[in-house]
Amino acid sequence: MDLRAALHQGTDLLAGSTTPEPRLTAEVLLCHALKRERVFLYSHPEHELSTVEWIHYGRYLYERMQGKPTQYITRTQEWYGRNFRVTPAVLIPRPETEHVVEIALEVARGARTVLDIGTGSGALAVTLALELGARAVATDVSLEALRVAQWNADALGGRVDFVCCDLASGVSGFFDLIVSNPPYIPEREIATLQREVRDFEPHVALLGGETGTELYGRIISQAQGLLRPGGWLIFEIGYQGEAAVRQGLSDGPWSRVETGYDLAGLPRVLRARYAP
Ligand SMILES: C[S@@+](CC[C@H](N)C(=O)[O-])C[C@H]1O[C@@H](n2cnc3c(N)ncnc32)[C@H](O)[C@@H]1O
Repeated sequence: MDLRAALHQGTDLLAGSTTPEPRLTAEVLLCHALKRERVFLYSHPEHELSTVEWIHYGRYLYERMQGKPTQYITRTQEWYGRNFRVTPAVLIPRPETEHVVEIALEVARGARTVLDIGTGSGALAVTLALELGARAVATDVSLEALRVAQWNADALGGRVDFVCCDLASGVSGFFDLIVSNPPYIPEREIATLQREVRDFEPHVALLGGETGTELYGRIISQAQGLLRPGGWLIFEIGYQGEAAVRQGLSDGPWSRVETGYDLAGLPRVLRARYAP
């Protein structure tokens, strides 16, 4: 079978299983099977698939039709201009989380030390270490996630040390900037999530307790022992979490508490300055 026919057949199969963007997905999976760039599909439509390429392509199509996210099949996600390795041990980094980097670059451009709590693939820690030229520490409760994050730090560069612990309980020292995108989906909402998320992404990366905001309070209190005066705490928040997280910041030594909105106009990033 040649590439033109393989693409056609893959697109039909994916469309039949109501996979979003079937043509684009078929292209990505076929490129992954061929270990080639997308331009090859169009410059060599007559290329005949080898048996191995065909077997791989078929398996990837099957996995995607079962709901496995494309990124877990190709093991990569482009994020803030870099390719991050992702495995089912880590959340696939989302475009919305790039707003955390944007806000950090806006308010804490001079930060020399950064702590990322719940690092997953390491997307925030590695990106901030590189963009700010800072030294980062990143934590996660999942050792498997930290292995992926370490892989990304090694591949992309950036000075990041990893600590396996509950939130920041295993971290000492003082930081100019603390970022966190903790799990924030209320447990009762698990059934309402897309199949790709519910059945394939790690629940430890998704579920934030009964209300979805349980972890924020603990992070806010730990941050007070880890931020330098004048340092910034920047959170990603869920669309329902703003009031509860703001409430958690209202009693403490925090100033300039501000919300940033994503492209859909939803509250997405909350920042606060440590002012003891
Ligand atoms: C929503 S994911 C965010 C991952 C990554 N920072 C990103 O933005 O793509 C949350 C991460 O927090 C980690 N996590 C969950 N509970 C934790 C805890 N108590 N202590 C440390 N990490 C935790 C999960 O393993 C997961 O990697």
